[in-house]
Amino acid sequence: MKPRGPIGSCYLPGRLYDLAFAGMFRGLRGRVAAAVDRDGLYPWLDVCCGTGSQLRGRVPDLVPDPVVCGLDKSCGMIRYAAARAPGLPFVCGDAGRLPFKDDSFRAVSVSFGLHDKSPDLRRAMMAEVNRVLAPDGRLIAVDFENPWSFKSTVGALAVRAVERLVGGEHYWNCRDFLKRGGLRAFLRESGFVETARHEIETVSISIVVAFTR
Ligand SMILES: C[S@@+](CC[C@H](N)C(=O)[O-])C[C@H]1O[C@@H](n2cnc3c(N)ncnc32)[C@H](O)[C@@H]1O
Repeated sequence: MKPRGPIGSCYLPGRLYDLAFAGMFRGLRGRVAAAVDRDGLYPWLDVCCGTGSQLRGRVPDLVPDPVVCGLDKSCGMIRYAAARAPGLPFVCGDAGRLPFKDDSFRAVSVSFGLHDKSPDLRRAMMAEVNRVLAPDGRLIAVDFENPWSFKSTVGALAVRAVERLVGGEHYWNCRDFLKRGGLRAFLRESGFVETARHEIETVSISIVVAFTR
């Protein structure tokens, strides 16, 4: 999608999201990018990319095939993402029906893009991730876990309060996600095997690198 200059970059939900979370997520974005860079896992697709901040700062494509790509269902967010990262490709599309060929990517990341979805959409997303990942590809997932310590319990309470404020389906899907065991259980049930995990205790989140059998 072509950057829309000032219109795209003025998209209010995008601006507010970045204002609230860009600083907080800086370290986490760095870890996800490092997991991709460490094994040169390109091409890289960021699913449910939102404002595109995960890919921002990546070198724009110098080769005909895209090296990185962001996808989100919200075309407003996609316009915003494209305006904030000129030269990088962003696609408006459904994570449950990815508009890419089989085995197209060596990395697919999804950050905070699972807990808010319905169980059916989550399952469809994982089937699609599986399909577009190359045989040696890796999924890098960031999402909520059930708390495992006092510190993570306090963090989880704060997160839960924010999710309650968002409300609606988002909140109920998040509750369901945690009731089923959070990211760890979801990946295992989806047939993914973890190769690395980093836990952020203060917010009860984990960053996981995984492959499918
Ligand atoms: C909580 S945000 C996470 C954004 C980003 N990954 C991050 O880490 O900041 C979830 C995103 O999922 C997107 N989304 C919701 N349903 C979707 C779908 N079916 N396909 C693709 N994206 C979807 C929303 O538009 C939103 O940008």
